[in-house]
Amino acid sequence: MLERNRWKRSEVLKLLGLTLTLGALTGCAPETTLDTSEVANAEAASAQGAAAQTIPESHLPAFTADGKLREPADWQEWVMVGASIGLSYNEEVRSAAAGASPGMFHRVYVQQWAYREFLDRGEFPEQTMFVLSFFQSAESEHPRTGGFYEGDLIPAMEIHLKREGVHESGWGFYMFSGGSSEGELFAPDAACYSCHAENADHDNVFVQFYPTIRARLAESESGDG
Ligand code: HEC
Repeated sequence: MLERNRWKRSEVLKLLGLTLTLGALTGCAPETTLDTSEVANAEAASAQGAAAQTIPESHLPAFTADGKLREPADWQEWVMVGASIGLSYNEEVRSAAAGASPGMFHRVYVQQWAYREFLDRGEFPEQTMFVLSFFQSAESEHPRTGGFYEGDLIPAMEIHLKREGVHESGWGFYMFSGGSSEGELFAPDAACYSCHAENADHDNVFVQFYPTIRARLAESESGDG
């Protein structure tokens, strides 16, 4: 597992280049030409771990010099594992959330590779990043006669990163406030850590709110996984 931490940038790019050649990714691909020795290298590397070979750089945590987590460029394209509306866990907003406004939509995303690895093994790998993002609820659009849909993205998101050494829980919480693309790590005594440790159903993650993850864990428990 920890092998991935030590990946050199050049190796990741080379493997990504191979993926582009195969046409698995399109769009802003750099001009990539691979000779057969590079393909052989990539094949050798892929033999070390099938899941590892297609991890794009943007799906691995990257940090600024002063330790802030950089916003992953394409997190809105990751696997959306859960959505909720008006979910609140702050006593002060309990009554407001129960009123006419349904509150914000929450969407939770995770990297594709980490999701697949979780489905395989039933555990979240090191470097898993969960993004919690928020959308306003809106209700004005024709031809709607009832209900709510997602309005604008609220420029504040949070990331839960599995990373040994960052906190005794094995996970770090980062906040990207005011639309910042750099996330600050919460201090070890922040309420984030204690609420997740005490109430989240699996490995500090609120899997009870994420249907496919919940189902995978139920399989493990019934002995099939
Ligand atoms: C009182 C309990 C509570 C506190 C405190 C709390 N959370 Fe959470 N958190 C939740 C619940 C419940 C979810 C389930 C998903 C949702 O909100 O839609 C969640 C989900 C998350 C997720 C998605 C991944 C996961 O682990 O399930 C992130 C990221 C997150 N919270 C970040 C934070 C940060 C950052 C803080 C501290 C500022 C924080 N949370 C404090 C209850 C809490």
